[in-house]
Amino acid sequence: MIIGYMRNLKKPDSLARTTSLIAKSYGLELLYMNPRDVDVKKKKVYGRVLVNNKWMDKETDIPLFIDVVPYCFKKETKEVMDFLRETTLLSEDRKNVITKEYLQEVLSKDEAFSHLMIPTHPMETFEDLHHYLNQYQKVVLKPESGLRGKNIYFIEMIEADGFQIGFNTEKWKVSLNELASFFDATFKGNQYFLQKYVVSRTPQGDPFDCRVHVEKNSRGRWAIAKIYVRIGIGQSVISNVNQGGGVSDTREFLKVNYGDKWQKIYQYLKKLGKIIPEKMEELRGKDIMTLGLDVGIDQSGDQFYLFEVNDSPSSKALKSDVAYFRSNYYLYVLKEKLNIHVKDPMKEIELLTDQISQLEKMGGEKDKVIAGMKKQMVQKEKEITSKEKRLNDILNSSSWKLTGILRKAKKYL
Ligand SMILES: Nc1ncnc2c1ncn2[C@@H]1O[C@H](COP(=O)(O)OP(=O)(O)O)[C@@H](O)[C@H]1O
Ligand SMILES: [Mg+2]
Repeated sequence: MIIGYMRNLKKPDSLARTTSLIAKSYGLELLYMNPRDVDVKKKKVYGRVLVNNKWMDKETDIPLFIDVVPYCFKKETKEVMDFLRETTLLSEDRKNVITKEYLQEVLSKDEAFSHLMIPTHPMETFEDLHHYLNQYQKVVLKPESGLRGKNIYFIEMIEADGFQIGFNTEKWKVSLNELASFFDATFKGNQYFLQKYVVSRTPQGDPFDCRVHVEKNSRGRWAIAKIYVRIGIGQSVISNVNQGGGVSDTREFLKVNYGDKWQKIYQYLKKLGKIIPEKMEELRGKDIMTLGLDVGIDQSGDQFYLFEVNDSPSSKALKSDVAYFRSNYYLYVLKEKLNIHVKDPMKEIELLTDQISQLEKMGGEKDKVIAGMKKQMVQKEKEITSKEKRLNDILNSSSWKLTGILRKAKKYL
């Protein structure tokens, strides 16, 4: 049974390789494919499968399920993706996507989640920015379609005419007028929204967040794949690992920074890993396969913030776990959603071993029968030689010779 695995990278990466190897042990063949490998007219895919640890070209029908990342949905791939949406089941179809801004809006109205949310506002004019700076003193500006910590700005109001802008690891001071020009040059016309700045920092002052990476398991339920802490060393706002930050073990990090409270915090992060993904599925009205929650914690350890729910979390820090969860989930999707029974290769091997041992047993019995027959044959041979011997004896006996004349005579009588 073939499972599609669609990514933009031309060359399959190590996660694709590991997933393929694990999937193989479940009787699934992973077909690595780029959007351009799909022939919409012929309804075929020209992808690659792992054979003896080498990726080999393979032409197939459209797989019944395709694990696809959001990045594959672009203007250039629209025709292919629209076609796939209609013809097959996709792990992600980009329908009803929840933006960061919308998530904050809807969850802040939800009693179960409002305590996690960060005051968030649209920002159209410089007056908007100025207004919220007066209200919050520190704000964060994010592009609506931001990816991986890019283009996030931090602005602080120090005095009526003095502001500080932070971007990546840089910081600089500006006057009100300069800030207005900066607004025009950077934000005007580009879709940015504004958030109150919330403090999720280590005692050393570096911003951090907890990435709660969740995956669907073999029963189609949410499971924590990993919780890890990302620290943006030297960053002005973001805990971005790609820009010089680091990753830390959650338990150790919490023990050091929150003392006795660490267990409570850890349990709560785990709880969020269950209730938020369920809520996301409810909001999107569909099943989701993977999510990454970005959760901040203030210094008291009592206040949590949900920065973002990422629908394509990086698997760098947990490749083999993700590969394992995915392979299990593919099997679940085939069985439970598509009603396809995939033969379990382990069970098949067990069946074959059974058959072989039965044959061997039968072989043993056959040998016995043959041995018995051989014995019988030897016995028969013995009987024949002894009969021949007796016959010869009779023929050579003098009485037989004497009676010969008589026998001849009888013939003529
Ligand atoms: N309102 C905020 N206050 C303080 N820090 C923030 C705020 N929003 C984002 N951050 C920091 O920036 C990081 C990236 O923000 P996020 O919304 O997750 O964007 P991205 O899509 O780039 O990951 C967060 O993980 C957090 O460390
Ligand atoms: Mg993020």
